[in-house]
Amino acid sequence: MFLTTLLLCLSEWVSASRGHDRNSTIVNPIFPGFYPDPSCIYLPEREHTFFCASSSFNAFPGIPIHASKDLQNWKLIGHVLNRREQLPRLAETNRSTSGIWAPTLRFHDETFWLVTTLVDDDRPQKDSSRLDNIIFKGKDPYNPKSWSNAVHFNFTGYDPEPFWDEDGKAYITGAHAWQVGPYIEQAEVDLDTGKVGDWQIIWNGTGGLAPEGPHIYRKDGWYYLLAAEDSGGTGLNHMVTMARSKKISGPYEANPRNPVLTNANTTSYFQTVGHSDLFQDGNGNWWAVALSTRSGPEYLHYPMGRETVMTAMSWPKGEFPIFTPISGEISGWPIRHEQEDIRGVGPYANSDDPEHLTFPPSTPLPAHLTHWRYPIPSSYTPSPPEKPNTLRLTPSRINLTALNGNYAGAEGQTFISRRQQHTLFAYSVTLDFSPTQRDEEAGVTAFLTQNHHLDMGVILLPRGSATASSIPGLPADLSNSTTGGISDDGMVPHVRFRGESYVPVPKPAIFPLPESWRRKGGKLALEIRACNASHYVFSVGPAGKRSEMRVVMEVSNEPVSWGFTGTLLGIYATSNGGNGTTPAYFSDWRYTPVEQFRD
Ligand SMILES: *[C@@H]1O[C@H](CO)[C@@H](O)[C@H](O)[C@H]1NC(C)=O
Ligand SMILES: *[C@@H]1O[C@H](CO)[C@@H](O)[C@H](O)[C@H]1NC(C)=O
Ligand SMILES: *[C@@H]1O[C@H](CO)[C@@H](O)[C@H](O)[C@H]1NC(C)=O
Ligand SMILES: *[C@@H]1O[C@H](CO)[C@@H](O)[C@H](O)[C@H]1NC(C)=O
Ligand SMILES: *[C@@H]1O[C@H](CO)[C@@H](O)[C@H](O)[C@H]1NC(C)=O
Ligand SMILES: *[C@@H]1O[C@H](CO)[C@@H](O)[C@H](O)[C@H]1NC(C)=O
Ligand SMILES: *[C@@H]1O[C@H](CO)[C@@H](O)[C@H](O)[C@H]1NC(C)=O
Ligand SMILES: *[C@@H]1O[C@H](CO)[C@@H](O)[C@H](O)[C@H]1NC(C)=O
Ligand SMILES: *[C@@H]1O[C@H](CO)[C@@H](O)[C@H](O)[C@H]1NC(C)=O
Repeated sequence: MFLTTLLLCLSEWVSASRGHDRNSTIVNPIFPGFYPDPSCIYLPEREHTFFCASSSFNAFPGIPIHASKDLQNWKLIGHVLNRREQLPRLAETNRSTSGIWAPTLRFHDETFWLVTTLVDDDRPQKDSSRLDNIIFKGKDPYNPKSWSNAVHFNFTGYDPEPFWDEDGKAYITGAHAWQVGPYIEQAEVDLDTGKVGDWQIIWNGTGGLAPEGPHIYRKDGWYYLLAAEDSGGTGLNHMVTMARSKKISGPYEANPRNPVLTNANTTSYFQTVGHSDLFQDGNGNWWAVALSTRSGPEYLHYPMGRETVMTAMSWPKGEFPIFTPISGEISGWPIRHEQEDIRGVGPYANSDDPEHLTFPPSTPLPAHLTHWRYPIPSSYTPSPPEKPNTLRLTPSRINLTALNGNYAGAEGQTFISRRQQHTLFAYSVTLDFSPTQRDEEAGVTAFLTQNHHLDMGVILLPRGSATASSIPGLPADLSNSTTGGISDDGMVPHVRFRGESYVPVPKPAIFPLPESWRRKGGKLALEIRACNASHYVFSVGPAGKRSEMRVVMEVSNEPVSWGFTGTLLGIYATSNGGNGTTPAYFSDWRYTPVEQFRD
C-alpha cells in the first residue's frame, strides 16, 4: 500500500516536472455543427497558426475558415466565399446536395490556395457543367476582401486538391464516383489561369464506390495518397484509405492495412468517420482531421450533420501512418497550453458561452450569421429607424421550401441563421410582426435544407384555419380564445408549426393568436429547444412572460437528420407566394448552450 502510493507520487512528480511533455486531451468535435470535409494546414510563418477550411454547400457566406494556435481553441476567422461576384453561380444551384463541396486549403508562394467544386446536382451526371471546379487565392485569410474571384478549370470530377512537387510543378488531384469510375485522377495545372494538362488515372481506391477528398503528402521519398471511400457521400461505412508511390503519377500501391481510419462496424457515438486531411505541428507531430456524425450506429438522430473531429497519428519513417481512432476525448501529442488570442469573427468554436444579439444601431450583422445562397442585403436591416435594436426582415415571396423545394430564385429567400452546435440548447427570439395580407408569415426554423425544415411562425390566415385541438399541452382557453384584430376580410393572425422532410413530419399545428397575448404589446417570444438528443420542443408566448410560454410541438429531429449539411437555427419572413410586403422585426436573439453529448 505504502509502496504503491510512493510510486504513484513519484510518477506524478516525474510527469509534472516534464509538464510540457505531457499528452494533450483533444475534445471532439473540434468544430461542432455543420462543418464537414475539413482541410487543414500549419503555418509557422503566420504566427504558428493552424488554419482549416470546411465545405458549406448552399450556405452563404461559404467555405468557413477556422484558426488556432494550440489545436485546442479554434475560432472562425472568416469565409473564403464572401461576395456574390466571386462565384455568381451559387445563386442558381438546385437541390439540397448542391453548392460548395469539399475544399482543400494549402499555402504556397506566400499565398493561401483554396481549390473546390461548385456542384449543381440537378444536372445529369454526363453534363460537364454539373461540376464547376474552381480555385480561390488570397494573402490574408483574416481579410475577406483578400480572397480572389473563382478561377475555373476543366475537370469532370470533384474534390480537387492542389499539390506542388519538389521540382516546382503544380498538380491537381481529384476524384470520380462509380458512374464513371471509381478512380482518382491527376493533371498538371497552372493555378493562376486554371489551364490543365492531360488527366491520368492514378488510383482506383480499395473498392469503395465513391472515393473522395484525395490528398497527396511527400514523405521519406514516397508520395502518399490519402482518400475517403464509401458508397457515395457519407454513410456508416465511410473510411480513410491510403496508397503510395515513388512517382507522383503512380502506380500507387494500396496500404495492406487499409482502412487507416474508420468507425464502421463499431458502436461509437461518432460514426461516418472519413474525409481526412493530415498536417504536422511545430514539434513535427502528425495530426488528422476528419468528418464525423454524432449518431451512434442507429444513425437516425444527427441534426448537427457532419462535424469536424481531430485525432493524433504516428507516422514512422518509410511506413504508412497509424491513426488513433476517433472518440469524444483523445490523448494527443503534447501541445502548448497557453491560449493565444486569435482575431476571430465569433466566439471560440467549441465555446459553451451563450450568444445574445441585440442588433444595436450602426453595427453590422455578425459575420457568423448564415444565409441559404445569396441574400438580398436590403432585406436585412439591423436597427431600422422605426424600431431601433431590432433586425428588420423584408419578406421574400419564396418561403423556406421555395417553389420545388430546391431553388432560391432571383428574389432570394429571407432567412438568416446560426449553426446548431450543441446537443442540447435553447434558441429564442422576440418577434414584433403585424401581418396585413393573407399568408404573410415570419418565425423561427430549424433548417437543414429547403426540403428539410421545422418552422414555427405567425401567419395571417382566414378565421377557422385552426387545428388547435392537435396541439399537445395547449390549454383549451388558448385554443378557442377569441382574437382581436380580425380584419374586414376575416383574416386572423395565427401561430403555425409546420415541417417539411423526406420522412414523415407532424401535421401542421395552427391556432389563432390569443387576444390576451396581443394586448401585451403584441410581441411574442418564439423558442426552439433540444430537450434531448432526439427531440426539439417549439414554444411560443408573450414576450417577457416565460410563465405563459406554451409548447406548440414536440418533434423528432429525424426530419433534419439527412444528407450533407447540418441544422441552422434562424429566422425567416415570407409572403408565401403572395403580394405581402409587411416587414417583421426580430430582437433579443439568444442561443444558450445546455449540454454537449460526446459518448
Ligand atoms: C433550377 O431550377 C429552376 C426551377 O426549377 C430552373 O428555372 C433553373 O433553370 C434551374 N437552374 C439550373 C442552374 O439548372
Ligand atoms: C476548358 O475546355 C474547353 C473546351 O474543351 C476550352 O475551350 C477551354 O479553354 C478550357 N478551359 C481552360 C481553363 O483550360
Ligand atoms: C482503374 O479504373 C480504370 C477505369 O475504370 C480502369 O481502366 C483500370 O484498369 C483500373 N485500374 C486498376 C489497376 O484496376
Ligand atoms: C463493416 O462490416 C461489413 C460486414 O462485415 C463489411 O462488409 C464492411 O467492409 C466493414 N466496413 C469497414 C469500413 O470495415
Ligand atoms: C500520447 O499520444 C499519442 C498520440 O495519440 C499516443 O500514441 C500515446 O499512446 C499517448 N500516450 C499516452 C501515455 O496516453
Ligand atoms: C373550448 O373548446 C373546448 C373543446 O375544444 C370546450 O370543451 C370548451 O368548452 C371551450 N371553451 C370555451 C370557453 O368555449
Ligand atoms: C426525448 O423527448 C421526447 C419528447 O419529450 C420523448 O418523447 C422521448 O421519449 C425522449 N427521449 C429520450 C431518450 O428521453
Ligand atoms: C410556400 O410558397 C409556395 C408559393 O411559393 C406556396 O405554394 C406554398 O403553399 C407555401 N407553403 C406554405 C406551407 O405556406
Ligand atoms: C398580387 O398582385 C397581382 C397584381 O396586382 C394580382 O393579380 C394578384 O392576384 C395578387 N395576388 C394575390 C395572392 O393577392
